[in-house]
Amino acid sequence: MKTALITGVSTKIGLGYEIAKQLGQEGFHVIIAARKFEQADSIAAELNTQGIKASAVCIDLLDRASITEAVKKVKRDHQTLDVLINNAALMLDGSATAFEKNLDEFNIEFETNVTGTWAVTQYFYPLIVASGHGRIVNVSSGAGSYGDLDFGIINFPGPALNMMGDYPLTPYAITKLALNGLTVKMSKDFRRDNVLVNAICPGFTATRPGLAAYGARPVSESAKGIVWAATLADNGPTGQFFRDGKPLPW
Ligand SMILES: NC(=O)c1ccc[n+]([C@@H]2O[C@H](COP(=O)([O-])OP(=O)(O)OC[C@H]3O[C@@H](n4cnc5c(N)ncnc54)[C@H](OP(=O)(O)O)[C@@H]3O)[C@@H](O)[C@H]2O)c1
Repeated sequence: MKTALITGVSTKIGLGYEIAKQLGQEGFHVIIAARKFEQADSIAAELNTQGIKASAVCIDLLDRASITEAVKKVKRDHQTLDVLINNAALMLDGSATAFEKNLDEFNIEFETNVTGTWAVTQYFYPLIVASGHGRIVNVSSGAGSYGDLDFGIINFPGPALNMMGDYPLTPYAITKLALNGLTVKMSKDFRRDNVLVNAICPGFTATRPGLAAYGARPVSESAKGIVWAATLADNGPTGQFFRDGKPLPW
């Protein structure tokens, strides 16, 4: 049975839960990761009740020891890992301008979204290679794109978010811009091991109460493009940026 590990699955309203559910429905054994083990465990149990094979690990992107322990557990239980979904991310104060932003706070976001994602990928890499056809999905955002007309670095705030006011998302956008660059570099290094890695923007998604009123779409729609990237054929794309299976400008 193929395995997929999804980071940042701490609630049932986040994208991580829906990604796990959809991959589980496609026949994967899903490994639910959250920084609090009890949350991951309870979500895995909930998925089990739906007939999905699921288990839990504790992964805090800022705690390398937790990643090491999770790798040991996955290796012991499954030997290999077919799919890694780097879904976990942190967004702190998105309203601060470049002048106002507290840079110590920005460093925590960068350490989580970029270095932490990189660490999880490095630590699991031997298990991913061992699967023979690894897939890595870095859940990114149009906020880190130069060409995204609604949410991108140049055009933001676009029409879809005007109702939320002037919300520049500068630090988060910079972390996702860096994640996109990392995706390209990883894809070049990992190609020789038949590992495909892509950055996927889920689109503006209702993962918080009230967001749907601002045009955010349901998680069920947004997760599809992530599941698509997780299940690409061996000759599928790598080192690219997509939303809903369609290329997104960098
Ligand atoms: N929702 C959108 O409109 C949208 C748009 C574009 C991209 N995205 C991306 O989609 C992904 C999922 O976001 P979401 O909207 O579903 O939000 P979410 O529910 O807040 O999911 C983020 C997850 O990351 C976890 N996390 C934060 N810091 C962590 C750490 N140090 N170690 C491990 N886990 C950590 C959170 O755990 P805790 O509960 O413990 O904090 C949470 O489970 C993110 O990468 C986000 O950037 C979302």
